[in-house]
Amino acid sequence: MLRNRLFTAAAALGLAAPFAFGGEGDGDAGAGKEVFETKCVVCHNADNKEKKIGPGLAGVKDGKLPSDKDTTYDNLLENLNKGGGGMPAFEKLMSDEEKDNVIAYVLTL
Ligand code: HEC
Repeated sequence: MLRNRLFTAAAALGLAAPFAFGGEGDGDAGAGKEVFETKCVVCHNADNKEKKIGPGLAGVKDGKLPSDKDTTYDNLLENLNKGGGGMPAFEKLMSDEEKDNVIAYVLTL
């Protein structure tokens, strides 16, 4: 609970810092946008929550993923590597750098 409130406070202040801890978190969101537009946009909207094949990802920066898991680098990496529920596993389909970058981008949505 307290953690959530701190998280919300940090988010309200516009701090990107909560995402920088606990994972790699050093991706380049600009480069990640290009990866997203090549590999993800076919199934995911970036600017709204409307479902395509997968859920729209707008709003994840507010703290929760569509699955209701916390928005963290580690949760996004696990989702990306393993896929599931209709999403392909990208573990072997992307370089570590591409993963870091696309996660950095998703953290801005
Ligand atoms: C073939 C369609 C498809 C592609 C391509 C795809 N996804 Fe997904 N994605 C899905 C589906 C379907 C779900 C929902 C899975 C579920 O509900 O179990 C999902 C879920 C997600 C979630 C939400 C996870 C959660 O815990 O709520 C994220 C974040 C995500 N995808 C990111 C990405 C990224 C980043 C890419 C590109 C590298 C990508 N997806 C490519 C279909 C896709």
